[in-house]
Amino acid sequence: MNQPLYAIPGALPAAAPAVSTPPAATAARTVNEVLAQTQVLAVVEELERDLVGLAPVKQRIRDIAALLVIDRLRGNLGLPTQGGPSLHMCFTGNPGTGKTTVAMRMAQILHRLGYSRKGHLVAVTRDDLVGQYIGHTAPKTKEVLKKAMGGVLFIDEAYYLYRPENERDYGQEAIEILLQVMENQRDDLVVILAGYKDRMDTFFKSNPGMSSRIAHHIDFPDYAQAELLQIGERMLGGMNYRFGVGTREVFERYLARRLEQPHFANARSVRNALDRARLRQASRLFADGDRVLTPDDLTTLAPQDLLASRVFGASDAA
Ligand SMILES: Nc1ncnc2c1ncn2[C@@H]1O[C@H](COP(=O)(O)OP(=O)(O)O)[C@@H](O)[C@H]1O
Ligand SMILES: [Mg+2]
Repeated sequence: MNQPLYAIPGALPAAAPAVSTPPAATAARTVNEVLAQTQVLAVVEELERDLVGLAPVKQRIRDIAALLVIDRLRGNLGLPTQGGPSLHMCFTGNPGTGKTTVAMRMAQILHRLGYSRKGHLVAVTRDDLVGQYIGHTAPKTKEVLKKAMGGVLFIDEAYYLYRPENERDYGQEAIEILLQVMENQRDDLVVILAGYKDRMDTFFKSNPGMSSRIAHHIDFPDYAQAELLQIGERMLGGMNYRFGVGTREVFERYLARRLEQPHFANARSVRNALDRARLRQASRLFADGDRVLTPDDLTTLAPQDLLASRVFGASDAA
């Protein structure tokens, strides 16, 4: 909750401009022609390469990409399309399983295939949509929708929009406006709802109108320990750090323990653990003010940078 509203520019330089359906004479007739024109494969392959695990999610994304390519070929032949496929989605899973990350990739895929004009993603939670006082909700929701138009609106923990315990909760007003736009402007806005599976199921039971407008439900499984280790190594590499001698083994032990503890948040906990290890590495180097530091010193996490964690019973924070 309460994460600020942010917009992620999705337009990639190499992307074909949105809605760039070529004139009929050159219109693609084969899947490969569409792929060549849109370079959508590059985004799909990047997603496959950059993200560890998530096999079922990747398969669903490939299926949706295939659906869009075929829809485009149907359009090129002038077959009726009923305003294009319905693309609203729901991503369910525990925190840190990659929902926001995949939503950003989805925005790029939609852009490359011309289903989104801008390819950006606007991520919001209840507080960005719902006002505190009467009359505040509609303008807030409409402002967010305006920002998201031509791209993807990502609503994290969407079930907080619905508060049955409050008799007249303003969340209901936001839901009604969203439903209208999801129906009437679905060619210009894709909505992705995200959150815990059980809460989302409850939300849909109470909001059948929302449920019926979501075409794609995608479940994000928790990562296995080996996947978390691999994610950690990728993150480290991305930050230009590496494990020193013996550190990888300590990190494995760290993960085994952390997994058993409360509030474990999958890849997000991995990132947090590495961030804290970097802090400890910095303090360790800082303490030795006269030493000439080599690139190796500066990029290497030592076992003690992890062993000082509370996960190992040390007094240091988490
Ligand atoms: N499969 C994965 N491979 C590599 N990094 C991942 C993977 N899943 C998540 N991450 C990273 O973990 C962090 C949390 O992911 P995020 O998409 O915010 O999860 P969620 O939205 O489900 O809470 C991000 O830094 C993301 O880049
Ligand atoms: Mg998220």
